[in-house]
Amino acid sequence: MKAWALVPLLAAGLLAACPDPEVVVVEVTAADHGRDLASDPSIANAAQNRLSCSDCHAETKDEASAHLPGAPLAGATLRPSYWGGQENTLLRSVNNCLYYFMAADAPWDGTEDDAVAIYAYLESLEESGDASAQPFTIGDVVDPGSGDASRGEAVYENGCAFCHGAKTTAAGRLIPYAPTLPEETLADHPDPDYDAEDRRLVFVEKIRHGGFLGYGGTMPPFSLEALSDEDLADLLTYLGVPEP
Ligand code: HEC
Ligand code: HEC
Repeated sequence: MKAWALVPLLAAGLLAACPDPEVVVVEVTAADHGRDLASDPSIANAAQNRLSCSDCHAETKDEASAHLPGAPLAGATLRPSYWGGQENTLLRSVNNCLYYFMAADAPWDGTEDDAVAIYAYLESLEESGDASAQPFTIGDVVDPGSGDASRGEAVYENGCAFCHGAKTTAAGRLIPYAPTLPEETLADHPDPDYDAEDRRLVFVEKIRHGGFLGYGGTMPPFSLEALSDEDLADLLTYLGVPEP
């Protein structure tokens, strides 16, 4: 008998010798499922959405996430208010993100499986979290002056690159229609319609207001807590947005 002919016989013998295969049940808690959903863009149920909750929110405040636009999630279930005091319920706060940033066409009422899982996940973070209302101060639209390009690079890598991709090339950008910085935005605001000061303020206004306060679009706003005026000066210097 040739060697390969043994294989099916052995396999048949093994199967006969085994008891019924056991069904292995992998227990996934709602909180674990919620953690996975927090980094899954399909949670918004919108084909064009590329973003997940964890792109804009860290679990807890740390160096790596210092310039993310959203507040840390740990402690959110315990906070008295949200969105810098503009929202009183957690559900509405999350629905804002789903609607403004993630293209969801229907708000959650809180009973959906995904909503229940996200809530369980947020609850599981309570012990490591900050239960106080998180400040969200809208910065003024003023030119912050020049800063330090190498610090600005770190700000860009933390807060902007995941959507816009690399400076000048947009390599690796998550959002296909996020402009190449700074070139595309400078080209969209040409002389003589815009002078150097106007162009600086286009950047500042977009970063401070995102899609809000009349600007439009889906970019999130960066508060003074997420990005100080000094960070902003460093960022514009790194990007090389010409000063007047
Ligand atoms: C594009 C970025 C972005 C995405 C994606 C996003 N958020 Fe937000 N989120 C923000 C910003 C900006 C705010 C307003 C500032 C703040 O209060 O944190 C906010 C506010 C919140 C708040 C209120 C926090 C507080 O204490 O004020 C919660 C909770 C929240 N988001 C949860 C979520 C969840 C859950 C998801 C995913 C379903 C999500 N967000 C997706 C940017 C985002
Ligand atoms: C969550 C994704 C996201 C993040 C993070 C983000 N942007 Fe944007 N940005 C966009 C999108 C999308 C647009 C296109 C317009 C719109 O939809 O709001 C845009 C547009 C812009 C514009 C063009 C404004 C105009 O009117 O031409 C500038 C400038 C800009 N972003 C700068 C930044 C800088 C600097 C950062 C980091 C501090 C940043 N963005 C972070 C998504 C993002």
